[in-house]
Amino acid sequence: MRKPLIAGNWKMNKTPREAAELVQALKDKLTEIDGVDIVLAPSFTALETVYNLIKGSKLGLGAQDVHWEEKGAYTGEVSFSMIKETGCQYVIIGHSERRQYFGETNETVRRKVKAALKFDLTPIVCVGERLEEREKGKTFQVVENHIKEGLATLSGEAVLKIVIAYEPVWAIGTGRTATPQQANEVHTFIRQLLSDIYNRDVASQTRILYGGSVKPDNISALMAEQEIDGALVGGASLEAQSFSEIVQRAKIKGVN
Ligand code: PGA
Repeated sequence: MRKPLIAGNWKMNKTPREAAELVQALKDKLTEIDGVDIVLAPSFTALETVYNLIKGSKLGLGAQDVHWEEKGAYTGEVSFSMIKETGCQYVIIGHSERRQYFGETNETVRRKVKAALKFDLTPIVCVGERLEEREKGKTFQVVENHIKEGLATLSGEAVLKIVIAYEPVWAIGTGRTATPQQANEVHTFIRQLLSDIYNRDVASQTRILYGGSVKPDNISALMAEQEIDGALVGGASLEAQSFSEIVQRAKIKGVN
């Protein structure tokens, strides 16, 4: 049984003060929540503030990116020990916006995932095709490359510690969600791929999230699909009401 996970990727939104307001509102709505893991991923500057407000609660903390080197002359970068000391347990790696605007590649994803595991952080590894790739029938090929190259050299035991997020780029921030069937088809493909590369246990235990315009009104249909274990939520994670509704609805799968 895979426990559902809902992660809120706040992207470049919320100052520490605004983040604190959102967390306070979320805590009021999500205190008694069980049966679903919840992760908040604010910007680096708000990590500590958020951690101080959520510690001891059921809300988990994640960073949106990290550098793979442990320390050194990398101006503007943030290391694993830095995010770990702010209370992070998770880190998003390979988000399509990082790939598109900041030169993230499968190779940098691979380095970051490897380092995350060394530091005992759970990487949420993002994969997914762009619109033109889907239209050319290349969805599975792109996703396979993201996974094979991004996770290359990891053992099956290591892969058990990661979370995969399938995020079709054309569905991110566009209001155009993949249908539950489209998403499930790719999730099924990813699970089969994990089974082929590693084994069935790894495939059946790894959590695969869907991301791309997830909202309170589509989460239930997405979660009803067998291979969808949760969601990486962008826009709808910026409001306490919509994020908590998504969590509440995802929880139903956890309870059953
Ligand atoms: P969205 O973003 O929910 O705003 O589409 C999802 C993501 O980028 O993780």
